Amino acid sequence: MNSIVLNNGVRIPELGLGLFRAEEEKETINAIRYAYEAGYRLFDTASFYGNEEQAGKGLKELDAPREDYFVTTKIWMDDMESGDIRGAFERSLKKLQLDYIDLYLIHWPIRDFYEETWRVMEKLCAEGQVRAIGVCNCPIRSLENLCRNFEIKPVLNQIECHPQYFEKEVIEYCKKEEIALEAFCPLGRGKYLNDPILQKIAEKYGKKESQIMLRWNLQQGIIPLPKSVKRERIISNADLFDFSLTEEEMREISSLNIGKRAIDMDPETIRL
Ligand SMILES: NC(=O)c1ccc[n+]([C@@H]2O[C@H](COP(=O)([O-])OP(=O)(O)OC[C@H]3O[C@@H](n4cnc5c(N)ncnc54)[C@H](OP(=O)(O)O)[C@@H]3O)[C@@H](O)[C@H]2O)c1
Repeated sequence: MNSIVLNNGVRIPELGLGLFRAEEEKETINAIRYAYEAGYRLFDTASFYGNEEQAGKGLKELDAPREDYFVTTKIWMDDMESGDIRGAFERSLKKLQLDYIDLYLIHWPIRDFYEETWRVMEKLCAEGQVRAIGVCNCPIRSLENLCRNFEIKPVLNQIECHPQYFEKEVIEYCKKEEIALEAFCPLGRGKYLNDPILQKIAEKYGKKESQIMLRWNLQQGIIPLPKSVKRERIISNADLFDFSLTEEEMREISSLNIGKRAIDMDPETIRL
């Protein structure tokens, strides 16, 4: 698995396994095993997913050297509001049975609480408890504030990004500021797999529509985090490295943006 160098020098794999809605313990443990065997080295969880403990077991069962895989988890809004940032981090670390987290993210940077949260995350980074800190769902104005007025600039912004929904301005801003990007819902939660343009391109390369969606992110340097607990799909979602899309195909796929999120969280209601 190739990697991308973050703006603090830490390397992150260019593809990861998403773990949202991996709910059964056995399922999560197996998914991590299947993914590891298929070459994934990045695992994306969050305290909100309620499966950090399961993920911790799955990682332990790999019996692999710790530096061989990269773990991301995230702080949820309730913990930011209560101000118990360090407590939330320690609970995640314990559930994951790890000594450190590779990447710790703010799940939703609610405007009244993200600055204080970030200051504690900076301390965790300085103490070596996390190797890198970043954000998810972060609008440009908050990114700008973090970049200009804090000690540590976010290494990465994890955003919803698939052909049917992407925010061009946020992507361009992050690229300009050397903030890496991760794509959540890179498969649009499976809602768009029968799109005729994706079907046509998939046929040309003898690939699946899902692989075309993932390759589209990968080819822009955006790290896709497809979620699956099924072995075949986990393998297929990583089988992206034996073809490449032409510039024209990239443009054609980008034209599918309908500006509608696959998730039902509204940034306005969340007070970003
Ligand atoms: N930061 C945030 O706010 C945020 C928000 C959402 C998600 N995320 C992260 O991003 C990850 C991915 O997003 P997501 O899980 O919401 O959506 P997704 O990866 O776009 O789609 C996952 C869905 O597609 C199915 N699937 C997987 N591979 C498939 C394939 N090859 N063909 C057909 N269906 C397939 C999965 O089912 P099976 O498991 O049954 O295969 C699951 O129902 C999450 O798991 C999480 O780690 C972050």
